[in-house]
Amino acid sequence: MDIDNVPKSPFEGAISLKQATLGDAGIVFAWRNHPDIYRYFFNPTPVLWEEHVAWFTRALANPGCHFLIARDTNDHSLGVVRFEAQGDAGSAEVNIMVAPGFEGGGLGTRMLELGVDWVAERTPIRHVVAKVMEANLGSRKLFEKVGFTTTYRVMERTLDVTDVR
Ligand SMILES: CC(C)(COP(=O)(O)OP(=O)(O)OC[C@H]1O[C@@H](n2cnc3c(N)ncnc32)[C@H](O)[C@@H]1OP(=O)(O)O)[C@@H](O)C(=O)NCCC(=O)NCCS
Repeated sequence: MDIDNVPKSPFEGAISLKQATLGDAGIVFAWRNHPDIYRYFFNPTPVLWEEHVAWFTRALANPGCHFLIARDTNDHSLGVVRFEAQGDAGSAEVNIMVAPGFEGGGLGTRMLELGVDWVAERTPIRHVVAKVMEANLGSRKLFEKVGFTTTYRVMERTLDVTDVR
Protein backbone atom coordinates (compact mmCIF):
# COMPACT_ATOMS: atom_id res chain seq x y z
CA MET A 1 0.00 0.00 0.00
CA ASP A 2 1.41 3.42 -0.95
CA ILE A 3 0.80 6.41 1.28
CA ASP A 4 -1.54 7.79 -1.43
CA ASN A 5 -3.81 4.81 -0.90
CA VAL A 6 -3.83 5.11 2.87
CA PRO A 7 -7.31 6.22 4.08
CA LYS A 8 -6.92 9.61 5.70
CA SER A 9 -10.15 9.66 7.72
CA PRO A 10 -9.49 8.75 11.35
CA PHE A 11 -11.09 5.67 12.86
CA GLU A 12 -13.81 6.95 15.18
CA GLY A 13 -15.07 5.23 18.29
CA ALA A 14 -13.62 3.44 21.26
CA ILE A 15 -11.44 0.38 20.88
CA SER A 16 -10.28 -2.15 23.45
CA LEU A 17 -7.93 -5.11 23.58
CA LYS A 18 -8.86 -8.64 24.63
CA GLN A 19 -6.73 -11.74 24.89
CA ALA A 20 -7.04 -13.93 21.79
CA THR A 21 -8.76 -17.32 22.01
CA LEU A 22 -8.82 -20.23 19.56
CA GLY A 23 -12.03 -18.72 18.17
CA ASP A 24 -9.92 -15.88 16.71
CA ALA A 25 -7.80 -18.27 14.61
CA GLY A 26 -9.92 -17.78 11.48
CA ILE A 27 -9.87 -14.00 11.33
CA VAL A 28 -6.17 -13.83 12.19
CA PHE A 29 -5.52 -16.37 9.40
CA ALA A 30 -7.46 -14.22 6.91
CA TRP A 31 -5.47 -11.11 7.89
CA ARG A 32 -2.12 -12.93 7.95
CA ASN A 33 -2.71 -14.21 4.41
CA HIS A 34 -3.77 -10.86 2.94
CA PRO A 35 -1.06 -9.58 0.53
CA ASP A 36 -1.10 -6.07 2.07
CA ILE A 37 -0.24 -7.65 5.40
CA TYR A 38 2.32 -10.34 4.58
CA ARG A 39 4.33 -8.37 2.05
CA TYR A 40 6.33 -6.75 4.86
CA PHE A 41 6.72 -9.92 6.91
CA PHE A 42 10.06 -11.72 7.09
CA ASN A 43 8.23 -14.69 5.55
CA PRO A 44 6.34 -12.76 2.83
CA THR A 45 4.18 -15.65 1.61
CA PRO A 46 0.77 -17.02 2.60
CA VAL A 47 0.69 -19.80 5.19
CA LEU A 48 -1.41 -22.98 5.16
CA TRP A 49 -4.37 -23.27 7.56
CA GLU A 50 -2.81 -26.31 9.31
CA GLU A 51 0.46 -24.42 9.89
CA HIS A 52 -1.45 -21.42 11.14
CA VAL A 53 -3.55 -23.40 13.63
CA ALA A 54 -0.45 -25.16 14.97
CA TRP A 55 1.37 -21.80 15.39
CA PHE A 56 -1.71 -20.10 16.88
CA THR A 57 -2.29 -22.92 19.38
CA ARG A 58 1.38 -22.81 20.47
CA ALA A 59 1.22 -19.01 20.84
CA LEU A 60 -1.90 -19.18 23.05
CA ALA A 61 -0.29 -21.86 25.24
CA ASN A 62 2.93 -19.83 25.67
CA PRO A 63 2.81 -17.86 28.95
CA GLY A 64 5.35 -15.39 27.49
CA CYS A 65 3.10 -14.59 24.54
CA HIS A 66 0.50 -11.85 24.99
CA PHE A 67 -1.76 -12.18 21.96
CA LEU A 68 -4.18 -9.28 21.93
CA ILE A 69 -7.09 -8.62 19.59
CA ALA A 70 -8.38 -5.06 19.12
CA ARG A 71 -12.10 -4.65 18.75
CA ASP A 72 -14.65 -1.89 18.50
CA THR A 73 -17.67 -1.35 20.75
CA ASN A 74 -19.72 -3.76 18.56
CA ASP A 75 -17.16 -6.52 19.17
CA HIS A 76 -15.83 -6.38 15.59
CA SER A 77 -12.20 -7.42 15.43
CA LEU A 78 -9.85 -4.74 14.06
CA GLY A 79 -6.37 -6.16 14.35
CA VAL A 80 -3.70 -7.86 16.42
CA VAL A 81 -0.94 -6.67 18.75
CA ARG A 82 1.24 -9.54 19.94
CA PHE A 83 4.10 -9.37 22.44
CA GLU A 84 6.43 -12.33 22.77
CA ALA A 85 8.88 -12.44 25.67
CA GLN A 86 12.46 -13.04 24.56
CA GLY A 87 14.62 -15.12 26.91
CA ASP A 88 14.66 -12.67 29.78
CA ALA A 89 10.96 -12.11 30.57
CA GLY A 90 11.59 -8.33 30.87
CA SER A 91 12.10 -8.04 27.11
CA ALA A 92 9.61 -8.74 24.33
CA GLU A 93 9.26 -8.51 20.58
CA VAL A 94 6.09 -6.89 19.31
CA ASN A 95 4.15 -7.58 16.13
CA ILE A 96 1.13 -5.65 14.94
CA MET A 97 -1.34 -5.86 12.09
CA VAL A 98 -4.39 -3.76 11.36
CA ALA A 99 -7.31 -5.39 9.50
CA PRO A 100 -6.90 -4.79 5.74
CA GLY A 101 -8.90 -1.72 4.71
CA PHE A 102 -8.49 -0.02 8.11
CA GLU A 103 -4.90 1.19 7.69
CA GLY A 104 -3.93 4.84 7.87
CA GLY A 105 -6.79 5.89 10.15
CA GLY A 106 -4.82 5.94 13.38
CA LEU A 107 -5.90 2.46 14.51
CA GLY A 108 -2.35 1.09 14.55
CA THR A 109 -1.22 3.96 16.78
CA ARG A 110 -4.08 3.44 19.23
CA MET A 111 -3.67 -0.33 19.27
CA LEU A 112 0.08 -0.11 19.92
CA GLU A 113 -0.38 2.46 22.70
CA LEU A 114 -3.04 0.27 24.35
CA GLY A 115 -0.87 -2.82 23.88
CA VAL A 116 2.19 -1.23 25.49
CA ASP A 117 0.04 -0.10 28.44
CA TRP A 118 -1.48 -3.59 28.67
CA VAL A 119 1.89 -5.36 29.04
CA ALA A 120 3.34 -2.64 31.29
CA GLU A 121 0.41 -3.03 33.70
CA ARG A 122 0.09 -6.82 33.68
CA THR A 123 3.49 -8.34 32.88
CA PRO A 124 7.19 -7.94 33.82
CA ILE A 125 7.92 -6.66 30.27
CA ARG A 126 9.80 -3.35 30.39
CA HIS A 127 11.57 -3.33 27.04
CA VAL A 128 9.93 -3.89 23.66
CA VAL A 129 11.61 -4.44 20.29
CA ALA A 130 10.01 -4.20 16.85
CA LYS A 131 11.74 -5.61 13.75
CA VAL A 132 10.59 -3.50 10.83
CA MET A 133 11.41 -3.73 7.13
CA GLU A 134 13.10 -0.57 5.86
CA ALA A 135 10.49 -0.33 3.09
CA ASN A 136 7.60 -0.51 5.57
CA LEU A 137 7.09 3.24 5.92
CA GLY A 138 3.74 2.94 7.68
CA SER A 139 5.20 0.66 10.34
CA ARG A 140 8.33 2.81 10.82
CA LYS A 141 6.20 5.92 11.31
CA LEU A 142 3.87 4.07 13.65
CA PHE A 143 6.63 2.85 15.97
CA GLU A 144 8.36 6.25 15.99
CA LYS A 145 5.06 7.93 16.90
CA VAL A 146 4.65 5.56 19.84
CA GLY A 147 8.16 6.34 21.17
CA PHE A 148 10.31 3.59 19.64
CA THR A 149 13.79 4.59 18.45
CA THR A 150 16.13 2.87 15.97
CA THR A 151 19.10 1.39 17.82
CA TYR A 152 20.63 -0.61 14.99
CA ARG A 153 20.13 -1.30 11.32
CA VAL A 154 20.65 -4.63 9.53
CA MET A 155 22.51 -4.04 6.25
CA GLU A 156 22.71 -6.71 3.59
CA ARG A 157 23.93 -7.41 0.11
CA THR A 158 23.21 -10.24 -2.28
CA LEU A 159 26.40 -11.60 -3.85
CA ASP A 160 26.77 -13.16 -7.26
CA VAL A 161 29.73 -14.99 -8.77
CA THR A 162 31.08 -11.86 -10.48
CA ASP A 163 31.73 -10.44 -6.97
CA VAL A 164 34.33 -13.16 -6.28
CA ARG A 165 37.89 -11.86 -6.81
C1 LIG B 1 1.89 -1.01 9.98
C2 LIG B 1 0.41 -0.86 10.41
C3 LIG B 1 0.20 -1.68 11.68
C4 LIG B 1 0.16 0.62 10.69
O1 LIG B 1 -1.17 0.76 11.17
P1 LIG B 1 -2.05 2.03 10.73
O2 LIG B 1 -3.38 1.94 11.37
O3 LIG B 1 -1.99 2.16 9.27
O4 LIG B 1 -1.18 3.22 11.41
P2 LIG B 1 -1.69 4.69 11.71
O5 LIG B 1 -2.87 5.04 10.86
O6 LIG B 1 -1.83 4.81 13.18
O7 LIG B 1 -0.48 5.53 11.17
C5 LIG B 1 0.72 5.78 11.89
C6 LIG B 1 1.54 6.81 11.11
O8 LIG B 1 2.06 6.18 9.92
C7 LIG B 1 1.58 6.85 8.77
N1 LIG B 1 1.33 5.82 7.77
C8 LIG B 1 0.44 4.80 7.86
N2 LIG B 1 0.54 4.02 6.77
C9 LIG B 1 1.51 4.55 5.99
C10 LIG B 1 2.11 4.19 4.75
N3 LIG B 1 1.72 3.12 4.09
N4 LIG B 1 3.11 4.97 4.27
C11 LIG B 1 3.55 6.04 4.96
N5 LIG B 1 3.04 6.42 6.16
C12 LIG B 1 2.03 5.70 6.66
C13 LIG B 1 0.35 7.58 9.20
O9 LIG B 1 0.10 8.70 8.36
C14 LIG B 1 0.71 7.97 10.61
O10 LIG B 1 1.59 9.09 10.65
P3 LIG B 1 1.05 10.56 11.00
O11 LIG B 1 0.34 10.43 12.32
O12 LIG B 1 2.28 11.36 11.03
O13 LIG B 1 0.09 10.90 9.90
C15 LIG B 1 -0.59 -1.35 9.31
O14 LIG B 1 -0.37 -0.62 8.14
C16 LIG B 1 -0.46 -2.82 9.00
O15 LIG B 1 -1.14 -3.64 9.61
N6 LIG B 1 0.43 -3.18 8.03
C17 LIG B 1 0.62 -4.56 7.62
C18 LIG B 1 1.34 -5.39 8.67
C19 LIG B 1 2.65 -4.76 9.08
O16 LIG B 1 3.42 -4.25 8.29
N7 LIG B 1 2.90 -4.82 10.40
C20 LIG B 1 4.11 -4.31 11.02
C21 LIG B 1 5.16 -5.38 11.07
S1 LIG B 1 6.60 -4.72 11.92
